Amino acid sequence: MSLYQMLSPYLFKLDAEKAHSWAESFIKRVMPLPLVQDYIAGKNCVVDKVLSIEVAGMRFYNPVGLAAGFDKNATMIKGLSTLGFGFLEIGTITQAPQEGNPKPRLFRHTQEQSLQNAMGFNNQGSLAISKRLKEFYPYAIPLGINIGKNKIIAQSDSLKNYENVLLDCLEVGDYFTFNLSSPNTPNLRDLQNVSFVQELFAMARTHTQKPLFLKISPDMDKDEMLKVVEMSAKSGASGIIATNTTIDYTLVQNPKQSGGISGAALKQKSKEILRILSESFFGKIVLISVGGIDSPQEAYERIKLGASLVQVYSGLVFQGPSLCKNINEGLLQCIQADGFTHLHEALGQDIKTKPKTRKKPEPEKAQDESVKDTQDSTIVIKTKPIRARNKKADSSEDAHSHTKPKSTKAPKVESKTKKTRVKKADSTNATKAKSPRTKKTQSLQDSTQALETTSQAQQDSAHDLPKE
Ligand SMILES: Cc1cc2nc3c(=O)[nH]c(=O)nc-3n(C[C@H](O)[C@H](O)[C@H](O)COP(=O)(O)O)c2cc1C
Repeated sequence: MSLYQMLSPYLFKLDAEKAHSWAESFIKRVMPLPLVQDYIAGKNCVVDKVLSIEVAGMRFYNPVGLAAGFDKNATMIKGLSTLGFGFLEIGTITQAPQEGNPKPRLFRHTQEQSLQNAMGFNNQGSLAISKRLKEFYPYAIPLGINIGKNKIIAQSDSLKNYENVLLDCLEVGDYFTFNLSSPNTPNLRDLQNVSFVQELFAMARTHTQKPLFLKISPDMDKDEMLKVVEMSAKSGASGIIATNTTIDYTLVQNPKQSGGISGAALKQKSKEILRILSESFFGKIVLISVGGIDSPQEAYERIKLGASLVQVYSGLVFQGPSLCKNINEGLLQCIQADGFTHLHEALGQDIKTKPKTRKKPEPEKAQDESVKDTQDSTIVIKTKPIRARNKKADSSEDAHSHTKPKSTKAPKVESKTKKTRVKKADSTNATKAKSPRTKKTQSLQDSTQALETTSQAQQDSAHDLPKE
């Protein structure tokens, strides 16, 4: 049992939102301190070529991301990157700052390892948050920005409201997610319709070639969901993030009257949605699975069901901050146990009926090249200014970055000022390499460059065909 799990009965006596604020203060103030950062990153960042994957033109050193809602104002990205995430999604951000719904609005269903939240997009607004992000951009791990609508905005003005946030954040996000699926903004879910998603992605594609995602609800009518997803893909979406929280209150024993349920209670629903989406869209668009992922086995199941990437939120609350490391280490074991040599090979293995037009994913040549390129199982990290990348991305005549195959270059990532080397994990025993102090410092440098650098591969492949 981890220290966190021993302490959690006491932590869980605190009001849930207060506990989150304390965690935020710690992650924001303490975790970025040089020695602390070094220690935590050394413990949690699992770097292994077996897990490294390119999705929607972005390079992920592992497939486990932080779901939206945990870091609504992008105040914790430095600390969070030391917990070993392959990517972070911040927000939901709205154009105008807003307080969200009245408190209390976050509850634990401890028996069911689940949360119920009615937060209502409390956030500091797109200008303040994008200004904060500018200080850190570019990052070494992809950073997504989740975009929502202000509560007071009329339904008829929603498109403009989404557009304004996108424009405010365009320069500081690696990808963008349109959130039409929160149950906590009145009528937001009504925007999950074919005509709105068509307008939304068409609008967004006039501004950017960066990857764009739609985050969907688990409570949609399945036929309608398929139509909405299909139209999103046609109109420029790179992929779908499935799912947001559910309003199926039969899933917990003592539900509150409002808010969405997440965590273990959502697991089956979220998995079922992924299965349905995979059967129609695997290989056509990127699928990211979120909802009840709290173990390596669960993450692996989602990958085998067609999710190129996974995200976690509630699992962090119930399993603690080592969740990401545990998932990544466990994934290495699962991959090896199945006789695969790379995460990529497991992708979509359990989909019963795959769409006919699916292209067989290519093997990750880039991974192998990256290894050849480097010495002694190290990854060399390079960067160039993000603006160059944005220029390149946005000046392309190609309408959708995910439709244009391009570079399969090795992922060379280098710090702005000097080369750093990161010791890779030993994939044979599926554990993170125990490196001496100096190596830990280097591993730290790499993980904290999440805040300072963007991988060369990420930049070079801004227009690449998703490998998944
Ligand atoms: C307290 C809380 C706040 C959330 N806020 C957001 C949000 O602002 N935007 C969003 O897209 N999803 C939000 N979510 C949903 C999560 O991103 C995720 O989709 C959902 O919790 C299911 O994942 P999980 O079971 O791992 O928690 C929130 C979830 C929780 C628990």
